[in-house]
Amino acid sequence: SSNGSTEEEKTLAMIKPDGVLGNYTERIKMVIVESGFSIIRETITQLDEHRASNFYVEHSSKSFFSGLIKYMTSGPVLVMILKKENAVADWRTLIGPTDAQKAKITHPHSIRAMCGLDSEKNCVHGSDSLESAQREISFFFGEISSGDAVGEHDEL
Ligand code: TYD
Ligand code: MG
Repeated sequence: SSNGSTEEEKTLAMIKPDGVLGNYTERIKMVIVESGFSIIRETITQLDEHRASNFYVEHSSKSFFSGLIKYMTSGPVLVMILKKENAVADWRTLIGPTDAQKAKITHPHSIRAMCGLDSEKNCVHGSDSLESAQREISFFFGEISSGDAVGEHDEL
């Protein structure tokens, strides 16, 4: 990073359609900021079948794929670039396990425990690696420069 001694990372966070429609956006953003992340970009978008299938292409052969795409195209999503030291792993920890039912038991303070329903409608997404984060950030925001910072924040 350009200032300070810590190496900051970027990750992609998404509030999925059930989270947006269920009015969890402000609560989730409060948790994000209180946990030390900066939201450096955000945009709200409606995925169509083609874009949702591309985003989740790694799962295209899974039995849950068609249900996942139907869910992900059912309403708008809010996508954000989060920045922080160790952002990728820390955001995954904060959202909790994929199955929101399990999250309510094993990770009751996680975001998926707060607003997810099950292993499909789990309210939020987080990149699973630095490589995924770069791909997913480019997917929604195009290439962003390493100097991109708080001043670039797009308000809705
Ligand atoms: P996955 O990458 O395994 O989970 P995560 O979102 O925690 O990285 O799966 C991607 C999405 O696919 C998941 O968020 C919801 C959906 N999904 C299902 O609908 N059913 C399932 O059984 C699984 C494992 C995932
Ligand atoms: Mg995943």
